[in-house]
Amino acid sequence: MSSPHVLVVGAGAIGAFFASRLATVPGVTVSAICRSNYKAVVANGLRVTSPVFDETVLRPAFTFCSPDEARESKQKHDTKWSHLLVATKLIQELGDPSALLDGLVNEGSSIVLMQNGLGIEDPYKKRFPQATIISSTTRTSAIQNKPGHIKHNFLTRTTIGPFTPNANETTSDIATQRTQEFAALLHSAGIPDVDILDHAGMQFARWHKTAINAAMNPTAVLARGPTNRAMVLDEELEIHLKAVMKEVLDVACKILGQPLPEWLPRIADVIQGVKGDTSGSHPSMWVDWEAGRKVELEAILGNPLRQAREHGLVLPRTQTIYALLKKAQEVRENQHSIESKLQT
Ligand SMILES: NC(=O)c1ccc[n+]([C@@H]2O[C@H](COP(=O)([O-])OP(=O)(O)OC[C@H]3O[C@@H](n4cnc5c(N)ncnc54)[C@H](OP(=O)(O)O)[C@@H]3O)[C@@H](O)[C@H]2O)c1
Repeated sequence: MSSPHVLVVGAGAIGAFFASRLATVPGVTVSAICRSNYKAVVANGLRVTSPVFDETVLRPAFTFCSPDEARESKQKHDTKWSHLLVATKLIQELGDPSALLDGLVNEGSSIVLMQNGLGIEDPYKKRFPQATIISSTTRTSAIQNKPGHIKHNFLTRTTIGPFTPNANETTSDIATQRTQEFAALLHSAGIPDVDILDHAGMQFARWHKTAINAAMNPTAVLARGPTNRAMVLDEELEIHLKAVMKEVLDVACKILGQPLPEWLPRIADVIQGVKGDTSGSHPSMWVDWEAGRKVELEAILGNPLRQAREHGLVLPRTQTIYALLKKAQEVRENQHSIESKLQT
């Protein structure tokens, strides 16, 4: 691989954390597309603190305020990004997220999607059929406390695999090789626990993470903000959380045509792990909801529901929480727009 130049699309908590790690690897250049933190990053860089790694301040080679600015710069400087690391929140109702990358992808570029949710790769495959798409989920916990200041809380475990549905052998081999190369970069960047999977394994890992998120995230919002631990210690909520995880995993096994792989944690182990989490952490959906932001509703709840339906399967509990949260979000958006009209 010739000198990698990584463009981080969405330099928030996860994007900035991985950008700051990758920038420590000799020969790797990192640039970033920012949004609300743009001015802070231009002025002071991306500061990342961590209980594991030394504090770093990353000054990206190029800091862009928008994808449009990145497109202009690419034309002007003939830049070829080897990897486009996408780490935006997935708010699908705002439109096709893959449009952000229009004009930024070269022949030989890999698109690395480091986001939660299911079916998130499809829009990229459709828009960039020739590009290598690498799918990734991470258990890293991080937050952007103020613009440009990122706090890594704990964990780094990251799962990565090529997205190659219906690919021929050559395309599949190339995607596998590029996945291994990117995983090696993460490893050189000090991330010790990167699990490399094949396409099928990665899709199972994605369903598994989505099962946990589909249970924990909306429940925290609908229950008005208990911590992760408080939810699993509540007798009734524990029953509900396990049942949501189970129905999503059961559907995953039917759609993917195999039992839950041995290497994925069982529901009881997941719940036990959360019981031992004394950090006081909340699911990110609650953090977004409380801050008045839209939540990753479609990626985490709507997409599994639709995939189940396409296969003639049902997810009754997931459907209920999806319908409730969707309506709650609509009601809140309407209230916001009435309030802002009254203020003007
Ligand atoms: N944080 C975690 O601990 C964690 C753990 C595991 C997985 N994840 C997943 O990782 C993904 C990223 O989460 P995150 O917590 O890093 O979110 P985040 O802190 O909100 O960061 C997302 C960044 O993307 C930027 N962005 C969004 N749309 C953009 C656009 N059109 N152009 C340029 N920038 C844009 C946001 O800018 P604005 O600030 O202007 O909105 C923000 O800086 C999500 O799918 C999440 O579920 C997060």
